[in-house]
Amino acid sequence: MLELKNIVKYFNKGTPSETIAINHLNLQIKPGDFVTVIGGNGAGKSTLLNIIAGSVEADSGLILLNDVDMSFVNEHKRAPYFGRVFQDPMSGTCADMSIIENLTIAYGRGRPRTIFKWFLQRKDMDYFTQQVKSLDLGLENRLNEKVGLLSGGQRQAITLLMATMRQRPSEKVIKRDYVRFCETDKAHAKEAVNLAFLEAKKAKKDSIKELKQKGLSKAERQVELEKINTAYEKAISEYDLTKQILLLDEHTAALDPKTASKVLEITEKIVDEHQLTTIMITHNMKDAIRYGNRLIMMSRGKVVVDVSGEEKKKLTVEHLLNMFQVASKDDAMSDSAILG
Ligand SMILES: Nc1ncnc2c1ncn2[C@@H]1O[C@H](COP(=O)(O)OP(=O)(O)OP(=O)(O)O)[C@@H](O)[C@H]1O
Ligand SMILES: [Mg+2]
Repeated sequence: MLELKNIVKYFNKGTPSETIAINHLNLQIKPGDFVTVIGGNGAGKSTLLNIIAGSVEADSGLILLNDVDMSFVNEHKRAPYFGRVFQDPMSGTCADMSIIENLTIAYGRGRPRTIFKWFLQRKDMDYFTQQVKSLDLGLENRLNEKVGLLSGGQRQAITLLMATMRQRPSEKVIKRDYVRFCETDKAHAKEAVNLAFLEAKKAKKDSIKELKQKGLSKAERQVELEKINTAYEKAISEYDLTKQILLLDEHTAALDPKTASKVLEITEKIVDEHQLTTIMITHNMKDAIRYGNRLIMMSRGKVVVDVSGEEKKKLTVEHLLNMFQVASKDDAMSDSAILG
């Protein structure tokens, strides 16, 4: 759970150009929430994401991640918990490096030794190829080409992969962080996580035993074995509180409409697959309605509309524009929001 409590952020405080970018903002985002964020130019959307990621420091207020106060944790230390994609397709990848080199660096994030380990293991290479293939852009055949040669949409798709792929933390680390993040009853949390891991291991062992008695072909056995491993990973992953939060700041705004919708589809697929908590800023009202399970509208540094679930599904662009006009009558509004 990500919680923002009473966040205030001024720019140029005490000068004639003083601006309040975030004005006593409160927000709670549950694990697995996919929140779309809309609002006029200057409403404070990017500042909000910057404060969450730690690239901008709030003047006051608390940022809690799984009940732990992150307010004074610097951007670098917060990085493993957040994946970011910005508007500019050039900003997320390194143009002079190949797709594979970019992915290798992202994969090694938070694990300094692997950054310098340029020789790739076969396992990693297979994983990268499969990930790039899942984008369905044919880029799996261009893994050794420089990223600078790719189109903006292709680069954003690679950036999305880079922002979301990571090596699952070791079981020891998952257990440690689970207990660390449970502020209330640590002894109980420790017992619960240990028991869950033991049960998952036992279930895996039993399934493998059963599998051996089934007399399947080698290929069939391989398929079943993969299913058993996936079930095990899922059971463990439920206790992994350090899963990333994906922060998207108009990541499709610089792309043509067709490419933008392809990148959005990819985004949704990645979010579903990894069950990521996601915050996506967009000026396109249709996209804000179509994607995610919750929509918030910001105006002058505050959340002025917060709609989720069934209520969100019923929203229309006209409806949203009305709400927008009422909520932000004094704000500037971009053309793309009106046209969206
Ligand atoms: N580094 C900065 N220095 C001074 N003022 C800033 C800075 N960053 C943001 N601001 C101001 O804070 C306010 C909120 O800006 P922010 O970039 O968060 O808006 P936004 O909602 O992302 O707008 P847009 O839709 O145009 O991207 C604006 O008035 C902006 O001018
Ligand atoms: Mg912005």
